[in-house]
Amino acid sequence: MKKLSIIVAALAMLSAASCSEKAEIDVIPSPNQVSLGKGVCNLAGATFSYDAKALDPRTARHIEDFAADLFTVTGKESKVETSLSEEGISFTMDKSLADEEYTLDITKSGIKVAASSFNGFLYAIVTIKEMLPAAFFEGKENTSVKWTVPCAKIDDKPRFAYRGMHLDVCRHFFTVEEVKKYLDVMALHKMNTFHWHLTEDQGWRMEIKSWPKLTEIGAYRNSTMVGHYVDGVSEPQDSIRYGGFYTQEQLRDVVAYAADLGITVMPEVDLPGHMVAALASYPELGCTGGPYEVRTTWGIADDVLCPGKEITFKFIEDVLTEVMDIFPSEYISIGGDECPKVRWENCPDCQKRIKELGLKADSTLTAEQKLQNYVTSRVQKFVNSKGRKIVGWDEILEGDLAEGATVMSWRGVSGGIEAAKRGFDAIMTPNSYLYFDYYQSKEKDKEPLAIGGYLPIDTVYTYDPLKGIPAEDQKHILGVQANLWTEYIATPEHLEYMLLPRMDALSEVQWEEPSNKDFGRFEKSLTRHQFAIYDALGYTYSKDLIGQYGLSSEGKQNPSKMSAEEK
Ligand code: ACM
Ligand code: ZN
Repeated sequence: MKKLSIIVAALAMLSAASCSEKAEIDVIPSPNQVSLGKGVCNLAGATFSYDAKALDPRTARHIEDFAADLFTVTGKESKVETSLSEEGISFTMDKSLADEEYTLDITKSGIKVAASSFNGFLYAIVTIKEMLPAAFFEGKENTSVKWTVPCAKIDDKPRFAYRGMHLDVCRHFFTVEEVKKYLDVMALHKMNTFHWHLTEDQGWRMEIKSWPKLTEIGAYRNSTMVGHYVDGVSEPQDSIRYGGFYTQEQLRDVVAYAADLGITVMPEVDLPGHMVAALASYPELGCTGGPYEVRTTWGIADDVLCPGKEITFKFIEDVLTEVMDIFPSEYISIGGDECPKVRWENCPDCQKRIKELGLKADSTLTAEQKLQNYVTSRVQKFVNSKGRKIVGWDEILEGDLAEGATVMSWRGVSGGIEAAKRGFDAIMTPNSYLYFDYYQSKEKDKEPLAIGGYLPIDTVYTYDPLKGIPAEDQKHILGVQANLWTEYIATPEHLEYMLLPRMDALSEVQWEEPSNKDFGRFEKSLTRHQFAIYDALGYTYSKDLIGQYGLSSEGKQNPSKMSAEEK
């Protein structure tokens, strides 16, 4: 009996020790395999080395930048050698590792880093940076902290290949610099896909040279509604012109910036619904011919593209041709959500098309719903003919969907489950767990106005994308993404506030093996280290977890106060 209790006590001590040891590495997302050693490795003045023949120049540049950053904060120069050294921090290509995997062998005398890809090396560097004191992220010399990391062996790779974050820049516009900052935050969380929502009822945001009025007219609205949108109720308006767009040069600049962070930019041209800004620019694309006005209220518009007219398909193909030229992403999102059919029901051109195609209502779909299938599959053929693949919101599952489409499950998880069952790849972005425009605190009256809902960080954290998906279908779940719609988000500070720290929880959903998920460990790492990193970087974030609410008045600035010119 005594022996047993000694064993139990010893086991308890062991497990307590291993818990606290794991928590000593406050990296988010937490590395999947960590075994802590004894002691620390001092990085101040450490020599960096890599094999210039094995590593590509981009990776080499990131290594050199890291050495330079370390020099800045430690005040001690870190030399960089282009052939491998046994000492210091060495970077080795190891083709036996998986695509985004990296390993770190941290001993008192140095760090051996290995990876097989650009992203793998980037993630290794991010992990080392996050293991350092948070003051590293201040980017200025600091001799009062110890520039050490704990000795450990780390072998880390992501659970999901697709790790995305979405941003709507249409309801409110964010500048190139603000978008780049968004990408920086994504890179800090080892995310690899930026879903850029670039077209909407309330603003068209990318230059299309063959249809120039899209930005001359469609990028600006005459007014913005004030307060909460309620369907069918006319809202107070601010009567201030608002808008903005990106030139193709700027779009390419963002693509290149993202690529250098290991991030692919997946553009979205949302069609055939959410197209009022395009209709205002070219009324001939609509069923009624207009006139149309770039929308000044939120919600869903009845006016959509007219698939009865051939000009509509010329428009879509011209736009997508330019989009695919700018964005090298294999996946192109064509939206497909929230497309009312009322205009199509009353449009002679649409009805003629329905007749010609022989589309007939059945017990599950109307002829007009089948007309949306026709649009999706015609656009898909065009995109596929250019060697790319379509992604669409889960409405594209209604009816026939051609092989090779990828479905984004947003109305809960059911779209993803159905897609996988039917043999389609899916990306999970359920609003029930991953809509970051929802309130994150129960203290709603102390928070900036949000679209509604209640999505605290622990709910985000508990999400398991494979739950409810039969084992044989799980291979179809490519990954996970959170969406950030910006009807009620007008400033970069407010954007960061909605994003952080829920994005930390998302990153663990994307990266972490289920056996490693532990909200207690996560919360500790967040509040004692990640928040300090955000402070060092000057990010705005929600402190709901530590009982503080709301934003400064500056961050809450009403969208209406910012005209297009001021942006
Ligand atoms: C969506 O939230 N309408 C995809
Ligand atoms: Zn029509």
